[in-house]
Amino acid sequence: MASVKIQGVTKAFGSAVVLETFDATFENGEFVTLLGPSGCGKTTMLRIIAGFEKPTAGSVSFDDKVVSGGKVFLPPEKRDIGMVFQSYAVWPHMTVYDNVAYPLQIKKVGKQTIKQKVDRVLAAVHLSQYAERIPSQLSGGQQQRVALARALVASPALLLLDEPLSNLDAKLRESMRFEIKEIQKDYGITVVYVTHDQTEAMAMSDRIVVINRGVIQQIGSPKEIYTNPSNPFVADFVGKIEFLEGTAKDGVIELDGCGQSLHYDGALRGRVLVGIRPEQLQFAEGGELHGTVKSHFYLGDVNDCRIDLGGGKEVRIIADPFESADVKAGMQVSLRVRGCHVYAMDEGAEDFRKILT
Ligand SMILES: Nc1ncnc2c1ncn2[C@@H]1O[C@H](COP(=O)(O)OP(=O)(O)O)[C@@H](O)[C@H]1O
Ligand SMILES: [Mg+2]
Repeated sequence: MASVKIQGVTKAFGSAVVLETFDATFENGEFVTLLGPSGCGKTTMLRIIAGFEKPTAGSVSFDDKVVSGGKVFLPPEKRDIGMVFQSYAVWPHMTVYDNVAYPLQIKKVGKQTIKQKVDRVLAAVHLSQYAERIPSQLSGGQQQRVALARALVASPALLLLDEPLSNLDAKLRESMRFEIKEIQKDYGITVVYVTHDQTEAMAMSDRIVVINRGVIQQIGSPKEIYTNPSNPFVADFVGKIEFLEGTAKDGVIELDGCGQSLHYDGALRGRVLVGIRPEQLQFAEGGELHGTVKSHFYLGDVNDCRIDLGGGKEVRIIADPFESADVKAGMQVSLRVRGCHVYAMDEGAEDFRKILT
């Protein structure tokens, strides 16, 4: 097993800084996900951990042994890692068995040991019965599992996965999430997983590192990130949320434009950005917010509604279909607010608001 310590890692390509003073520690056996929009620097960070890129500044250590930093640079093959990329390159002319055995063959491992290790890993990825097939006789999901088996066969201390499920269809993606977690537990390894898919990150991770434009926004468990997002970007990127602007005073936030207000017992005063998640709202008599149902989509398991608060301000509520069976467009409703996220309108929130409007 391996812990990974990233200290002050900065990466620039020419004058473009794509990672800025990245600090994070991943524990032994932990499943950590780097999450952020396309182009935010996830793959670059993974390639730095793997040793395919050198950091411009800062260091990376495995179990307190520096692998990149200062004058030290260990090439990928000396780092005891397994890696799977989005485009899972399996060799088309080799059988599944040979694809998986290859990393051990080039290390000159004995035939008997190779067989033991390959059999174990093929069982772990549920491909034992396909050992003699060639990749074109397998589905996309099965081919991706071959790539996973090949990355795992040498029992690496660290497994790096770069959007490994993004080429699979939705159903398969869900079952593979579960399988990757099972394999991780089985092998007891540290996994650094890269995705731009927040649901995938939520479902799989012990901790998530949320990145935007090369800068870490927040590190925390899925629950911490979701229930206590450290800034509007994180709140928006992970989960659904609608933002309203307002002014925080003693005990209340007066919302702009719609003449309505929210109860508030937080410490901020002055201009604020209020984020409300659709499940934080509930149709209820005597609720704090009042409005008109603008639209609603009955999706079977939920009723997804937009409520016009007046003055062009809107919120979204994803309601229990039993509790909202009679909701119709044009109806006057009142909403209970079961929670919200309030941010000072500082420079960051101001920038974020500009993107929204
Ligand atoms: N070898 C490179 N040369 C120049 N720019 C690069 C190189 N690799 C990545 N970049 C740039 O770094 C930024 C981050 O890229 P990347 O790490 O691939 O993002 P992500 O994986 O989050 O989509 C992007 O703007 C990308 O164009
Ligand atoms: Mg990438």
